[in-house]
Amino acid sequence: MSLATVSAGSTGAQQSVPGGAGLTQGRGVSPERQQAVAGALRDLIHPRAGRLSPAQLRAVTLGLAGRRELWADLVVHDPDVRWYLPLHRSESCDVWLLAWERGQNTDWHDHGGSSGSFTVAEGSLAEQYRAPSGGRLSRRMLDVGMGIAFGPGHVHDVSHGGGSRATSIHAYSPPLMAMTYYKPTPYGLIAASTMAIDGPEGDRGRGGADTALADATASAAGLSSDALPANAPGIDELMAEARSGLARLRPEAAFAALTDGAVLVDIRPLEQRIVEGEIPGAIVISRNVLEWRLDPRSEARIPALARADARIIVLCSQGYASSLAAATLRRIGLREATDLDGGFQAWKAAGLPTHPARSLG
Ligand SMILES: [Fe+2]
Repeated sequence: MSLATVSAGSTGAQQSVPGGAGLTQGRGVSPERQQAVAGALRDLIHPRAGRLSPAQLRAVTLGLAGRRELWADLVVHDPDVRWYLPLHRSESCDVWLLAWERGQNTDWHDHGGSSGSFTVAEGSLAEQYRAPSGGRLSRRMLDVGMGIAFGPGHVHDVSHGGGSRATSIHAYSPPLMAMTYYKPTPYGLIAASTMAIDGPEGDRGRGGADTALADATASAAGLSSDALPANAPGIDELMAEARSGLARLRPEAAFAALTDGAVLVDIRPLEQRIVEGEIPGAIVISRNVLEWRLDPRSEARIPALARADARIIVLCSQGYASSLAAATLRRIGLREATDLDGGFQAWKAAGLPTHPARSLG
């Protein structure tokens, strides 16, 4: 399944999936229906079950697919965008209802370390998947009543199977938190982007203040912040601090600076450069060795670049990691270091020169 573009604070409006069809989230499930779904789940799994196995998740999706009274009246089929609805979320699993029209598919993705299962409740679906050993890709058809279960690391692309409209029930354990999308390349499937999942606690899926969903959300929020030391800055603070000392360059200004002695340093990983491309003349230095290559005092330095007056312009994909890296370079004495505002993606959007990835970095 593919829910990854539902970001924090989502209104449930149509979302777009990189390289794939759009997604739209259905309206919330009433508290009564949530309770009915939770009741059905209690019949299928122990209420205090922790992380569920693929076999347990298979029992969940198969069991709920057979309980049409719990979901059939909620389904919306939209020929333009894929539609989904969060049905349940607890600490052990989340459950989703998805509708499929002819031609709709998810694109290649994993499930962020969660195990999962889906069962076809109406129509048919096709699944392309990567064999657990990696490498070879396989395809299977799933008709109504059929489903699959998988462990962490499963990568697949699910599509409508042809014929009439399809509906499916999906379950994940632990609940989906993030998903990575992959792009097929001559090298195999390459990770292209990772996105956070807002999950059923999103605006339209919240279901009310006193529901189990709201409790689970509050519990998760508490777990994520309680253990932090006092005064520990968040990433937003770190970013603001880093950028406060940088004269960041938009792509056109960076391009002009290159003709005046500046050097672009590309810190993106190989997988990202394969997917996105590279900038001619940019020097590729992996983020994990950046300081050692550019510190004038380092034995592993690149002499031509590791100078206090070097005009280094760090670039990443979108211009976030590059700000932190450039700030660190300034801290170790490269007083002219800065970064590319908007990153490679802004450079490409500005129509500036790029070419397919060539260097290993
Ligand atoms: Fe999936």
